[in-house]
Amino acid sequence: MAIPWTPALAIGVPEIDHQHQELFLRIERLVQGVSRGNAADIERLLEFLSQYVVKHFGAEERWMLRSAYPDYTRHKAEHERFIRDYEHMTREFREKGPNVLAGIRINNWIAEWLRQHISRSDMELGRFLATKVASGDLDGP
Ligand SMILES: [Fe+2]
Ligand SMILES: [Fe+2]
Repeated sequence: MAIPWTPALAIGVPEIDHQHQELFLRIERLVQGVSRGNAADIERLLEFLSQYVVKHFGAEERWMLRSAYPDYTRHKAEHERFIRDYEHMTREFREKGPNVLAGIRINNWIAEWLRQHISRSDMELGRFLATKVASGDLDGP
């Protein structure tokens, strides 16, 4: 079972929080697709996730650049690492054919990565942006 998005994961930037919720929702659907063994569903979701994640990381990175975020390089490197690992995992999954175990492995990996990345790196960014807004250096997110 994928871990759902909870308000504890809110970083306080509506655009980003909405995207995080969307990501968790799609992972949930991926879990369902895998348990039904529907290869076309799974393929569609994997493709959606790969594009959506790039869009989402891009949105966060724009906030970082706009606010001169000091930890930009490290945070961006985490995003790039995820994209590499995701591509590696899904390639393996496609080559071997969709099977439940591999599907569950991907689900768990994505959900766990997201939960950890949001609660550390994204949360840190959210706090930084809030400080910038409070000091009048940045228009409110
Ligand atoms: Fe994020
Ligand atoms: Fe991030």
